[in-house]
Amino acid sequence: MRVLLMQDVSAAGVAELDGFELVRGSDPTGFDGVVCFLIDPVDERILATPGLRGLATVSVGLDHIDLAAADRLNIPIAYTPDVLTEATADLTFALILAAARRLGEAERYLRGGRWREWSFDLLLGTDVHGKTLAVIGSGRIGRAVARRAEGFSMRVLAVGRDRAQLEATLAEADFVAVTVPLSDETRHLIGPAELALMKPGAILVNTSRGPVVDEAALADALASGHLGGAGLDVFEHEPEVHPALLEQERAVLVPHIGSATRETRDGMAALACRGLAQILRNERPPNLANPQVWDRRSG
Ligand code: GLV
Repeated sequence: MRVLLMQDVSAAGVAELDGFELVRGSDPTGFDGVVCFLIDPVDERILATPGLRGLATVSVGLDHIDLAAADRLNIPIAYTPDVLTEATADLTFALILAAARRLGEAERYLRGGRWREWSFDLLLGTDVHGKTLAVIGSGRIGRAVARRAEGFSMRVLAVGRDRAQLEATLAEADFVAVTVPLSDETRHLIGPAELALMKPGAILVNTSRGPVVDEAALADALASGHLGGAGLDVFEHEPEVHPALLEQERAVLVPHIGSATRETRDGMAALACRGLAQILRNERPPNLANPQVWDRRSG
């Protein structure tokens, strides 16, 4: 059987596909299975490829895949829940700390040769310990961020889907961490009105998907001095970053590296590729994004 790899996958993933013919490319014609990544849009055309029996995405996010089409066309999809939870929560917390303590600015200051002498009020940031953190999204990653916050003696407010709760929490938190998946309901969940509700000097961190936050509005809220900082791992039009955000010294910006540790990426590659191998061998993988498809097939 033939498997199309839409990007290079690490040896840990390749090992799980032992016995299959692997081809790196983008055209699924003639393949039994496809391994894709978050930068590969998977639309109805790909999913309707004659003979395609399954797909695996090396990601926990599924917003690049037309899940409704996969459901209609009965294509089971394996993905990578759980394995990246802790690494992504670590990065979320790193951004909270980096934005609070102005680490990006501080490093640019030092490397730029501007550090002439120590001074008492050089690059003053804000405390993290003892502050209130709102975690928007109470899924696996949100809960892992909350656990870290407790270790920093923070008060944690978990925000679910309730609009009134979101508004009240935004007004109360010193830090807001966005961890919800992208969907029609969460696109621009944090826009000008929500940013205006945040406390003066508060810090926003987003490690979910860029379009959950209105980037232009966030740049405005930083430029006006209303927000004290931001930490962003994800952007609305990756790899483009809104030019107004690039101008904001108080924004810590990193290139979608939430799960980017060697151990975690190997774990993701192995889990996704094992899932696809199981689908192609007619075994039910534990990590199906659309288990109903499998249940229908075998029912
Ligand atoms: C990372 O953003 C993922 O969805 O795995």
